[in-house]
Amino acid sequence: RPRVLSGIQPTADSFHLGNYLGALRQWVRLQDTHDTFYMVVDLHAITVEQDPKVLRERTRRSAAQLLALGVDPARSALFVQSQVPEHAQLSWVLECQTGFGEASRMTQFKDKAAKQGTDRASVGLFTYPVLQAADILLYQANEVPVGEDQRQHLELTRNLAQRFNNRYGKTFTVPEPHIVKDTAKIYDLQDPTAKMSKSSSTGNGLIELLEDPKKSAKKVRSAVTDTGREIVFDAENKPGVSNLLTILSALTDQPVAELQNAYEGKGYGDLKKGVGEAFVEWVTPVQERVRSYLDDVAELDKALALGAERAREVASVTLRNVYENIGFLPPA
Ligand code: TYM
Repeated sequence: RPRVLSGIQPTADSFHLGNYLGALRQWVRLQDTHDTFYMVVDLHAITVEQDPKVLRERTRRSAAQLLALGVDPARSALFVQSQVPEHAQLSWVLECQTGFGEASRMTQFKDKAAKQGTDRASVGLFTYPVLQAADILLYQANEVPVGEDQRQHLELTRNLAQRFNNRYGKTFTVPEPHIVKDTAKIYDLQDPTAKMSKSSSTGNGLIELLEDPKKSAKKVRSAVTDTGREIVFDAENKPGVSNLLTILSALTDQPVAELQNAYEGKGYGDLKKGVGEAFVEWVTPVQERVRSYLDDVAELDKALALGAERAREVASVTLRNVYENIGFLPPA
């Protein structure tokens, strides 16, 4: 089976609808056909300041959400990044293969550093994409399911893999991004030209999986729509309506064309009501499952420890090869 790896940051109390539709939905689906490795990337989280207690809590909440969404620990290795020391170890080696200019061109770094003030941004924020490359290359992943915003990091990962293979002999599989076009970028409900994001300015544009579903439905009802009154998919001229159609289509597994027919002659208010209802129906049982996973933290930690063990079996083999190919002495 081809290998898949992906990760998500534990930097919010809840995942949002963009995370789910852009990436996590694919994580779950790929379990049927691929050998899957999924992780909560706490090492990445500390590139910006985190409160230790909150970080621990959010790491467990993240794992609970992944389980509730359908990541199946019997089929996937589900683990926490810091519990697999090889990530930090490979990252150092890859940092030494990365050009300073090359890292400086990463747009997510530039955006985040600009927000914090370049002087205050951590060196970890700068090397963040290299750690991400290490995550992927450790597992010899063939495919990496992510949203559109990760495309540049995947390109860097491919370049580093090829460069290392050329310099030191074939060591890494060169991975492909797995980006599902229709849902690769879910937009902010209040600003349908900006991506939905936890750092987006208006909380009203962000649908969180663990917020009160009534609140979510309300946010959908006040979503910004477009001029005109027709419910048609037209990303250019009707970004708001198109975003709602994308969301509804993904949540109900109905093609957009079918939805357009179903909403013919109806108004934007009807569409918003439909999206809100579909979301509430989908998220309610998810929230119940999250609660039950968080009820037994000991059991959750045990599942994650098992996942880390499975991950290390693969990661340690790659790291050993890397150390040998680069000219380090055999393990002491
Ligand atoms: P993160 O934690 O920001 O987001 C997790 C996943 O959600 C996707 N996503 C979206 N997709 C569609 N529309 C949106 N509005 C939207 N917002 C977020 C992201 O593309 C991502 O797939 N650097 C990564 C974490 C990471 C990783 C990895 C990913 C670390 N190591 C190795 C893949 C492989 C990140 O910050 O994702």
